[in-house]
Amino acid sequence: MEGIAYVNCAFMSLDEAKVSIEDRGFQFGDGVYEVIKTYNGIPFAQEAHLERLERSANMLELPLPKNRLELEKLINEAVRRCSFQDALVYLQITRGCAPRLHAFPNKVKPTLVLTVRRARPMPEELYEYGASAIIAPDERWLRCDIKSICLLPNVLAKEKASRAGAFEAILTRNDGRITEGTTSNVFIVKSGKLYTAPEGNWILSGVTRAITLRLARREGITVIEDFFSPEILMSADEVFITNTSIEVMPVVSIDKQPIGDGQPGQVTRRLAKLFKAEILQYIAQAKL
Ligand code: PDD
Repeated sequence: MEGIAYVNCAFMSLDEAKVSIEDRGFQFGDGVYEVIKTYNGIPFAQEAHLERLERSANMLELPLPKNRLELEKLINEAVRRCSFQDALVYLQITRGCAPRLHAFPNKVKPTLVLTVRRARPMPEELYEYGASAIIAPDERWLRCDIKSICLLPNVLAKEKASRAGAFEAILTRNDGRITEGTTSNVFIVKSGKLYTAPEGNWILSGVTRAITLRLARREGITVIEDFFSPEILMSADEVFITNTSIEVMPVVSIDKQPIGDGQPGQVTRRLAKLFKAEILQYIAQAKL
């Protein structure tokens, strides 16, 4: 089994799952989403993901069709039905189906779609030897803090990276501020200090980012949440990216130039290890 879908209150196989062409997600990208990873059948950092989902939906005045507890129950049920050890849960809520008029329709029922798929392990080399990235212009809107399903600029930049043989595109605004990756948050290490762009409308506040920062602070690493330029990025000692599915991944070359000595750095390796330990601890506690 490849996975399972839940659409309009029913579970079904992925290829049976369908939504109407009148859905505002399809018409306008009028919706929000979350990606949650499960380890040993347990959704990691689920509260933080659901909290962000509520925040994103609130900002779009999109009423969620289920409350927190109901969503948790639904995710658990879906994960249980698949019995994958490690899986990716995708949750999408759109404003619902209505004739194509831009303004919000009256009395529309939001569409909730959930899928669970087996999480394919990332190639080990990406962690052992590090990933490559390119720098690309950040052409997104001004509310990148909302986890909206409108991802076209992200898609285009990721495609650019892929055509350049790179894993990720690191995005920079016109004024020379690095924001984040197309699907990840970006960190640099310089003279032992950890830098990443601050929360706010220019980045998606990653769940993995928050945990990584907490672990770094716990280790006594100085954390500076501020923007940095492409020049600073290129001259960093270490660069890494984070997200739910990749966790903490070293980046060793950008635009074909090596970062530091061209190998995953000490701080990155340490944080990647601590992140794994955090997952194990979370799972152990969730099982109690
Ligand atoms: N994306 N920034 C962007 C633009 C993202 O799309 C993501 C995650 C992140 C990291 O967020 P988190 O640590 O909460 O996963 C940062 C998911 C994985 C996706 O779109 O598939």
